[in-house]
Amino acid sequence: MTPEQFIAFARVLPEPLLLVNSKGEILEINKPVVDILGFSRQEILEKTIFELATEPESKITSYLKACASSRTMVLGSLNINHSNGKTLVFRSQGAVVSPGSKECLALILLRLEERKNANINFILLNKKIEELGREIQRRKEAETALSKANQELELRVEERTIALIETLNELQLTQAQLIQSEKMSSLGQIVAGVAHEINNPINFIYGNIPHLENYIKTLLDFIEKHCEYEPDNCSELQYFREMMDIDFIVKDINKILGSMKFGTQRIQSIVQLLRNFSRMDEAEFKTVDIHEGIDSTLMMLSHRLQGRHYQYPEIMVIKKYGELPFISCYPSKLNQVFINVINNAIDAIEDLVISGHWAKTKSPDINIENQQVQPPTICITTNSIDDNWIEINVTDNGVGIEEHLQNQVFNPFFTTKPVGKGTGLGLAISYQIIVKEHNGHLSFHSIPKQKTTFTIKIPIK
Ligand SMILES: Nc1ncnc2c1ncn2[C@@H]1O[C@H](COP(=O)(O)OP(=O)(O)O)[C@@H](O)[C@H]1O
Ligand SMILES: [Mg+2]
Repeated sequence: MTPEQFIAFARVLPEPLLLVNSKGEILEINKPVVDILGFSRQEILEKTIFELATEPESKITSYLKACASSRTMVLGSLNINHSNGKTLVFRSQGAVVSPGSKECLALILLRLEERKNANINFILLNKKIEELGREIQRRKEAETALSKANQELELRVEERTIALIETLNELQLTQAQLIQSEKMSSLGQIVAGVAHEINNPINFIYGNIPHLENYIKTLLDFIEKHCEYEPDNCSELQYFREMMDIDFIVKDINKILGSMKFGTQRIQSIVQLLRNFSRMDEAEFKTVDIHEGIDSTLMMLSHRLQGRHYQYPEIMVIKKYGELPFISCYPSKLNQVFINVINNAIDAIEDLVISGHWAKTKSPDINIENQQVQPPTICITTNSIDDNWIEINVTDNGVGIEEHLQNQVFNPFFTTKPVGKGTGLGLAISYQIIVKEHNGHLSFHSIPKQKTTFTIKIPIK
């Protein structure tokens, strides 16, 4: 590189550059050197590098030698006095431009970088890095805080949603219960009213049957006597007696009276059951015979048990009542539970009837794969478990409850029945009555397509 080439190249660069030879003569410089040292260009060019720098000559010479003989950039340091007398500390990078020979000296390019600036840059860089680090840390923390807050929020929203769903369920159940208890109470009122209305005339009829018996007997005696005392007319009377079939009437009249007695007795017992069922007088806590409640419930449902329209077979009801003490409870509410559970049992059996289960096994009790196919049956057992608890089981051999639905049956409005038939409220309300109002337990066990048992446990007191 010639000094001219150096100038052309160094002019455009912002850092201080010097072209020196291996003897330390300064051949050329660029403007930044003038600016940084405070001397004029001429003043600098008149000096050697040894005059400019404060280091001992030997040290500078060996540095220049190293630069001249190395193929790579050689780092060094030079202290140079500013025109104002202050010493500036430079880092220097020296590179050979043309190697020395016998004819000419080696040319070396020196690039200066003031230590102070470098330090400041270094400090600035460090600062910047630190700041960036802090910023990154801050952002990380903010992100963590944000995701934590998000999680908390999500959790809270979830909790809130669950709480809302629960409240909604409770409200729906309360509403359903209100409707149901309203219905039950009006049904109870109607039943009680009807029972009362029937009771008077039936007592009237029943009470008069013995008198009627007596009167008829007296009349018949009278006719006999008439025959005895008026033998002349007897053949005529005999004629009428035969024509009017009096002998048959006499015999049949007793039968008629007997069936009237039986019928009215039956009506009386039905009225009694209806009164038990409605128990309008017993909306409050009472001590009652549970069996009476179950019996009156069965009576209320007898139309469903009897088999209808040739479509449904009769459902056998097996009662296995144990010895039960009187139970302190809300009798009308317990009756409501019995109705719900027994109605469900009948529905389950009817579902199985529709599916053709019993049609295939024409004679019941056929042994299929060691399984006894029983006729449609509802079995009701009662036991006292111990001194404090009693248990009522209602088992049906109907469709059963599919396993995946078993955790839903107590949910309000859960039903598998068609619209109009199921409300999905029966078990939800029963659960409320048994568990919440009687401190009891309501549970079930079901084998799909085979049987279901609902178990009611209530404390005696
Ligand atoms: N004995 C039973 N056998 C089979 N399924 C039953 C029985 N009892 C209740 N279930 C099921 O539980 C559901 C809910 O019963 P419930 O609350 O009484 O409402 P609903 O009878 O109006 O459907 C029924 O739809 C039925 O699927
Ligand atoms: Mg039901």
